[in-house]
Amino acid sequence: MTIAVIGAGIAGAACASELVKQGLDVVVFDKGLSAGGRMSSKRTPDGYLDLGAQYFTARAAVFKRQCENWLTLGVITPWQGRLAIYENGTLCASPDQTTRYIGLPSMQKPVQQLLQQVKLNSPCRVDTIKYDGTHWQLYSDEQHLGHFSQLVIALPQQQAAMLLAEHLLQQPQLQALFNAEALLPCWSVNIELDAATSVPFDGIFVKGDNAVSWLARQNSKTGRAPGEQWLVHFSPAFSQLHLEADAAQISKVAVAELQRLLGEDISVMQTLCHRWRYAQQAPDYPVHSHIYRTDLSLGLCGDWLNGGRVENAWLSGYQLARALSYD
Ligand code: FAD
Ligand code: NAI
Repeated sequence: MTIAVIGAGIAGAACASELVKQGLDVVVFDKGLSAGGRMSSKRTPDGYLDLGAQYFTARAAVFKRQCENWLTLGVITPWQGRLAIYENGTLCASPDQTTRYIGLPSMQKPVQQLLQQVKLNSPCRVDTIKYDGTHWQLYSDEQHLGHFSQLVIALPQQQAAMLLAEHLLQQPQLQALFNAEALLPCWSVNIELDAATSVPFDGIFVKGDNAVSWLARQNSKTGRAPGEQWLVHFSPAFSQLHLEADAAQISKVAVAELQRLLGEDISVMQTLCHRWRYAQQAPDYPVHSHIYRTDLSLGLCGDWLNGGRVENAWLSGYQLARALSYD
């Protein structure tokens, strides 16, 4: 049995890694230059910047064990960021006991660690999949990538829908997964300042009716670019409303919002803007863990099926692998 996994984010990597541990033959395909997906930090000449996932927490025992293993291997470390909350026009300290992990020196490190013993074909965008009743055939730009006895699709919902399009027409139960949008967008802007701010916080949860939802001082994280670097994440509502806006315009709003929320004047050296089309879980999308269809030799996993966090994406991939290997 040879299994193809499309997508080398944390969900696809967790699934592939577990399948390989069970002695199965697995090939992972990813369109990116390297594995990581939305857990990828951007490499700059000065160091990494986290534009996507900021940190992750561990609640399930099985994921806590995975984190212990990553800690031993040195691919993650706890982030000791000083936390605050901005609410009703006030910024105040909001410390808690939660352990928040970051990849070391970049967010994609734990994903790459999972894939160490796995065949990874990247960059390779899978654009066509065909099922003949016993095998899946995969293609990229009309080039045949191989035939596989099982297929795992570990992509964000909208990208999975595009690949599965013609198959969904014949599968109303699968189609139902795609009727409502699971993932909402997020505009992300990194702002490099020419002097340190005096704000005594490194991570700020912005509540209420604000355009911004999260601020973080990148240089409080081990391995990230030095200098005063603030990351701004916009809320799903703002990001959806301004989805097609120009990056320069979004950067301007980010600078004004950073200044307002920190409550002090800032002098900007440069900004870096990224639009994530598929980011935050829509609050009313149901949780499925993963999908496994034995009749189609097909599995689906990813954060969108399990609640939109790194841990949930990992659990989705891991649980799918367990279902597949016990079949
Ligand atoms: P992805 O990481 O999206 O992986 C899918 C992979 O598929 C990608 O590598 C992509 O290149 C590949 N791919 C797509 N199409 C194809 C194709 N046709 N062929 C081949 N490969 C393809 N979670 C937290 O826990 N904490 C946070 O602080 C946090 N902050 C976030 C901030 C932002 C801005 C975003 C976007 C997400 C954040 N998340 C956070 C969520 C977290 O990043 C995701 O839940 C998790 O990384 C999703 O993993 P995944 O494997 O399901 O999907
Ligand atoms: P977590 O437990 O740190 O945070 C969960 C939520 O609890 C936070 O969003 C915040 O609203 C609240 N919170 C936690 N600690 C707080 C504190 N000390 N003071 C005030 N409020 C606090 O992390 P978890 O559950 O692992 O979630 C992952 C994080 O990733 C969340 O913050 C989530 O919003 C964020 N995320 C962002 C995405 C985006 O597109 N920007 C996409 C997916 C996740």
